[in-house]
Amino acid sequence: MQYFEDIASTKEQIHAWRADSNTIALIPTLGNLHAGHLSLVKKGRELADKTVVSIFVNPTQFVPGEDFENYPRTLTADLEQLQSEQVDLVFCPATESIYTKSGEQTRVTVSGLEDRYCGTSRPGHFAGVATVVLKLFNIIEPDMAIFGEKDYQQLLVIRQIVSDLFVPVSIIGMPTVRESDGLAMSSRNHYLDNHQREIAAGLYRVLQDTAAAIRAGKTDYPGLETQAANSLNRAGFRTDYIAICDAGTLGRPTAGDIVVLAAAWLGKARLIDNVIIRR
Ligand code: PAJ
Repeated sequence: MQYFEDIASTKEQIHAWRADSNTIALIPTLGNLHAGHLSLVKKGRELADKTVVSIFVNPTQFVPGEDFENYPRTLTADLEQLQSEQVDLVFCPATESIYTKSGEQTRVTVSGLEDRYCGTSRPGHFAGVATVVLKLFNIIEPDMAIFGEKDYQQLLVIRQIVSDLFVPVSIIGMPTVRESDGLAMSSRNHYLDNHQREIAAGLYRVLQDTAAAIRAGKTDYPGLETQAANSLNRAGFRTDYIAICDAGTLGRPTAGDIVVLAAAWLGKARLIDNVIIRR
């Protein structure tokens, strides 16, 4: 497994692989890897000749006051896991390589998708994500990039950029990997104490109950959202939002697939999760 921090060496290796007609899959991460990340890596290994994982705690996607400083950084353990998964290259750039000191000015924003749900709760977050992901695409030039459905709005933002800007990368979405009690795996689960950890799986249960009501034909979406938020708050969460949306646009549901999105605080952890209803 190759490990590079600088862009030039990374590009040199990528170009050598390309010259040998290898296809390349990129899995962008913030590090602190768990089985959810590794499911994306496994998919990369299955679909492409070479698998590249980036580990970069991207400062621009953390809103002031968020956990950028305290975000878990576990490089040694991450590299061990990636080595066992037979990843070909890990790209781990310094902040100054990605955000050059010469006063860069460009931010990628996706209007419409950014001005709701996590976009309003975390202003500027998706512009930070969109900008770094496009930078990574331009450095690695992958054939495909793999993302989790766990961060559903993020996945749609990335699909939108790729479609609007003719970015030549196929975007692959992968199902959420969960703990045995249903809690979606996340680095932020480390912020939960034992009592909060017991409550945490309630988020997925409430999402499933809401999805079951929709599958059973209920269409009073605002009523279902209020009921779900009340259940979460009663269980000890502080609900940020729970929203029943069209899975493609995040507008009100139409005839197509539906996604139920939720974000809720438990102590200092902000948990997000979703359930997709295919129809
Ligand atoms: P991070 O939170 O590290 O997640 C990296 C990738 O792993 C994302 O595509 C995310 O959706 C996926 N993922 C996280 N938890 C998952 C789970 N339980 N099951 C399946 N996939 C899961 O998302 C980011 O980093 C950043 O915003 C990034 C895209 C790297 C840009 O900085």
